[in-house]
Amino acid sequence: MTLGQTQWTNVGVLASGRGSNFEALLRHEREGYFAKVRIVCLIVDKSDAGALHIAERYGVTFHIVRRKDFSSKEEFEQSIVSILESHEVEWVALAGYMRLVGRTLLERFPQRILNIHPALLPAFPGLHAQRQALEYGVKVSGCTVHFVDEGMDTGPIIVQRCVPVLPGDTEDTLAARILNQEHEAYSEALKAVTERPWCLEGRIVRFLDETANGKGTNLP
Ligand code: GAR
Repeated sequence: MTLGQTQWTNVGVLASGRGSNFEALLRHEREGYFAKVRIVCLIVDKSDAGALHIAERYGVTFHIVRRKDFSSKEEFEQSIVSILESHEVEWVALAGYMRLVGRTLLERFPQRILNIHPALLPAFPGLHAQRQALEYGVKVSGCTVHFVDEGMDTGPIIVQRCVPVLPGDTEDTLAARILNQEHEAYSEALKAVTERPWCLEGRIVRFLDETANGKGTNLP
């Protein structure tokens, strides 16, 4: 390795709200779960996002970038891109970022933006995924970590985890059960794409160290 180069993979997180997934990523990073990932900044689009307090607590640099301060989505996203570039970010993790990602971000970080969604995609994309699952009457739901493309929760799937939907579940009880799995699944996916060889075959995420029976040689 050349002097001055680091082995780190810088990750920037985008969030809009509470930030529990952001915190889970940070906790795993601090516990040494990742070989390469270093979470270098948080960007929120809401000045009252709870995620800001988590960034403060963990000493992570944060930025507030509000859509209403820009006349176009392109300018808004260009501002986000500039911040991410200033932190030499290679991977972007959306953690409860409640906006559709546009071309400006996608073209700057192709196949380098991850999202977590509280349902087993392609079921129940968009808002209120847990409510959609309850109203549909499914017996199993869960969460999905996927690459972000131009669609709404449509990108190639990296990790899914499932939970039962129990009789008597409310939106809150189901959301809490799924959230526990989200907090593990997101780090699992980020670790996998940053540490293992992979490629995209169409929309299939293929881990090249995985054997036919599903056992990897280098599983996290
Ligand atoms: C999480 O449940 C996440 O999956 C969901 O928002 C919540 C954010 O919680 N994201 C979406 O619905 C995106 N389509 P958090 O702020 O505590 O991480």
